[in-house]
Amino acid sequence: MRNTEEFAGQVVSDIAATFSGVMSNIGHKLGLYKAMAGAGVMTSQLLADKTNTHERYIREWLNNQVAGGYVVYNKENNSYVLPDEHIPVLVDEESPMFLLPALDVASSLWLDEDKVKAVFLSGEGIAWSEHHHRLFCGSEALFRPGYKAHLTGGWIQALDGMEEKLEAGAKVADIGCGHGASTIVLAQSYQHSRFFGIDNHDESIVIARANAKEAGVNANIKFHTAGAKEYTESGFDLICFMDCLHDMGDPVGAARHALKRLKKNGSVLLVEPAAGDSIHENINPVSRLYYAASTAVCTPCSLSQEVGLALGAQAGEKRLSEIMQAAGFGSVRRVAETAFNIVLEAQA
Ligand SMILES: C[S@@+](CC[C@H](N)C(=O)[O-])C[C@H]1O[C@@H](n2cnc3c(N)ncnc32)[C@H](O)[C@@H]1O
Repeated sequence: MRNTEEFAGQVVSDIAATFSGVMSNIGHKLGLYKAMAGAGVMTSQLLADKTNTHERYIREWLNNQVAGGYVVYNKENNSYVLPDEHIPVLVDEESPMFLLPALDVASSLWLDEDKVKAVFLSGEGIAWSEHHHRLFCGSEALFRPGYKAHLTGGWIQALDGMEEKLEAGAKVADIGCGHGASTIVLAQSYQHSRFFGIDNHDESIVIARANAKEAGVNANIKFHTAGAKEYTESGFDLICFMDCLHDMGDPVGAARHALKRLKKNGSVLLVEPAAGDSIHENINPVSRLYYAASTAVCTPCSLSQEVGLALGAQAGEKRLSEIMQAAGFGSVRRVAETAFNIVLEAQA
């Protein structure tokens, strides 16, 4: 047990990180980290010149970055450097370690604070569509690099005979597809297969269609606005639930619907936030982040829908397996994991 001063020290760090998150978001959006990446040492004036910004603001921002350990200060020549080791986390938008979009998700939580506070008192839900739009773009940007790195670079290969089916030409549904990040990654890799992206948030489906067009894969993807228990297509070789089953009001109903729409020997790919099976296993920064997002977004999303099971974003493998078994799946196994996700395959 820590004493009061030690605990206060932690809270000061947490609050400093909260303040500094705004600074990191500005650094990302104004291209400040990008301008520093690989550029070696630079003065605040040089960074301001490179980014068309005002030196006095840049100097203050840089000092915040130094205090947080993101940037290193050299007092000999009054200059600053972004260490190369920080580039995958702060600059490289294709890196699976690129974490800055999480700050847009965090800002949506602040912007929606009053709504979230209200449902603590009313017990009602908040639909996905009721959140600030930063949640939608932030989630897409945060998850996309992980899908690029892992979905077609390990997770598909870990499923029972799935890669061969996708290469030959399979039929795939991506349920709760959001802006279509995972659907597009799949379509880019498996050009003989057909993909159906389904989400009940119409605004996300409009953006998913535009994203697929921009990525040049709209010929083999169809996006539909529909709930996870409503779509009528069937004969799927693969049905994916990417970080969304726990957001649904009736995950058992959604999984049961998927089972009916799968081909014989088809698979469900279930990607969910990394979590142990009990709170004792979830005392770490990743779970802390997920529990907060779950309280403000995932749990109210589920409570806004029919059944309202409110699984939460830290359900863990045991509870997720029970959900799939209750829906009628005979086999559920863990096929992969990363620092942020657990990946399960369910088959009839
Ligand atoms: C955390 S986002 C994940 C989006 C996307 N799969 C990704 O990984 O980027 C959860 C998504 O589930 C969708 N969703 C929630 N409940 C749903 C339901 N009952 N039917 C269909 N989609 C649903 C939301 O609209 C949202 O787009």
